[in-house]
Amino acid sequence: MTTGTALITGASSGIGASLAKQFAAKTHDLVLVARSGDVMEDLARDLRAEFKVDVLVIPCDLTAPDAVDQIKAALSAANVTVDYLVNNAGVANFGQFVERSTDDLHMLVKLNVDALFRLTSAFLPDFAANKRGGILNVASVAGLVPTPGYAVYGATKAFVVSLTESLAEEMRPHNVNVVALCPGLVDTPLVDKVAVQSEAAQDVPRQLLLDADKVAKQGYQALMKGEVISVAGVSYQAFTSWVRAMPRSVSRRATGLMNQIVKF
Ligand SMILES: NC(=O)c1ccc[n+]([C@@H]2O[C@H](COP(=O)([O-])OP(=O)(O)OC[C@H]3O[C@@H](n4cnc5c(N)ncnc54)[C@H](OP(=O)(O)O)[C@@H]3O)[C@@H](O)[C@H]2O)c1
Repeated sequence: MTTGTALITGASSGIGASLAKQFAAKTHDLVLVARSGDVMEDLARDLRAEFKVDVLVIPCDLTAPDAVDQIKAALSAANVTVDYLVNNAGVANFGQFVERSTDDLHMLVKLNVDALFRLTSAFLPDFAANKRGGILNVASVAGLVPTPGYAVYGATKAFVVSLTESLAEEMRPHNVNVVALCPGLVDTPLVDKVAVQSEAAQDVPRQLLLDADKVAKQGYQALMKGEVISVAGVSYQAFTSWVRAMPRSVSRRATGLMNQIVKF
């Protein structure tokens, strides 16, 4: 008997693939969602062999208008019910707002906000009615502090943090945990993509990056315990506490000056 099925978005790489391993190790059956079907099939094969769990792969572009319908149809065809939703798929784009294309920035809103919102709407009512299940949203430290230099990314993650905190309270009587995992910089392909856009990101020493498996383990534990906001990385915990203790007018000026110095 398994411990409930987890649907993980962005499971083809980085933190999402690590989360898939983490859930499988705790005997959860899995549904993996991202665009790269072949990569997820390889991961699914490994997870089935190592952990003896069932894994359904659903290749899907979550920014497609019918993404939720595609996922629901695939779940129904496979007769799979979801107990945990892990909204992990996300993209970043660093640089000054006025120097970035509207379409590129809008992609962040479509994936990091709109897809997460639509999946939450699709699954949370059942979790509440069944009085079981949970949602793990992969936000970011960027959702907790002002982010001049990557304004839209920070704004999308602030949406995720805000939605999570409010839903966590609404769901408390329904026995459903809603949790935001807020990592600092993690060693994943996303950091390489950001490094192409930002000189400062290129200069971050690799050893300062958090390990994706450790971040995923923290996220899993936070979900099961119902820790509503879980900041990954001790230095990032100190940084966010320090910035959030400042008056807002000071913290946005301080982060703005930091951005002028490091040129995000
Ligand atoms: N790395 C960091 O430093 C860091 C820090 C804080 C928070 N985060 C957050 O952690 C989450 C995971 O990021 P990561 O670092 O693991 O990045 P990653 O390795 O680039 O993984 C991103 C995942 O999202 C999927 N994805 C991208 N566009 C998609 C789309 N249109 N439809 C469906 N899936 C899509 C990708 O799969 P396909 O390309 O196969 O679709 C991939 O599986 C993101 O929400 C990110 O904002 C990352």
